[in-house]
Amino acid sequence: MGTGDYEHAGVRRADRGAVPHADGPRRDRAGQAEAFDAIGDRYDEAFPHKEGQIAAGAWLAASLGPGARVLDLGCGTGLPTARQLADAGLRVTGVDLSAGMLALARENVAGATFLQADIADLIEGGPLAAASFDGVAAFFSLLMLPRPEIPYALGAIRDLLKPAGLMALSMVEADVDDVAIPFLGNTIRVSGYLRDELHHVVADAGFDVIKEDSYAYAPASTDVPPEEQIFLYCRRA
Ligand SMILES: C[S@@+](CC[C@H](N)C(=O)[O-])C[C@H]1O[C@@H](n2cnc3c(N)ncnc32)[C@H](O)[C@@H]1O
Repeated sequence: MGTGDYEHAGVRRADRGAVPHADGPRRDRAGQAEAFDAIGDRYDEAFPHKEGQIAAGAWLAASLGPGARVLDLGCGTGLPTARQLADAGLRVTGVDLSAGMLALARENVAGATFLQADIADLIEGGPLAAASFDGVAAFFSLLMLPRPEIPYALGAIRDLLKPAGLMALSMVEADVDDVAIPFLGNTIRVSGYLRDELHHVVADAGFDVIKEDSYAYAPASTDVPPEEQIFLYCRRA
């Protein structure tokens, strides 16, 4: 898919009309939840060093303060982020597509609320109220969506945030759209952007990027290739 194909997708909510998956056929989650159900806590074993994620979580916690409402989108096992935010006194809601990951998250983070949902369903009229969160963490979860859906997911995050709410986002730098990759004995489909393009997509969805961090990361597992992780610290514009 060339970049021209999705230039149209980087538009504000008011201009973008129906979501691309609304009529069904372009939304395909086949195998994604099942893969993460099967992966379970081996995910945390494959990615033992999460300095970038912990630093971004610490930024959210320190910026928002105890009592703030924060969404952990694609929360996985709840480690480290949901637990980090709950331990800092924030009111955490974790959302994930995988029942298996959510079962682990509920065990790992007693003080948080968890909800099984697809990121694509967190649009207006979905299970979470608009403008109800002070902050959102979306660590390596939007990369699970096909590229045309990512601007809409960012738009949904923007709508869930209060004015000037914060988002900590991480993606893996890669010029790919919905490619199947082997991952911990399963197959998952992932998308990504090169750095400059990611900045454009995030800005077009209505966020100011306050800060960027990146990390060259070599996972512990041999079937997961080394990657460049990008963390964007953002504010709802
Ligand atoms: C790569 S893991 C990241 C987990 C966690 N955020 C972390 O960084 O440790 C991606 C997570 O997103 C979840 N996920 C995948 N597609 C999703 C979707 N469409 N909606 C909600 N969650 C999804 C997976 O089940 C998995 O737990």
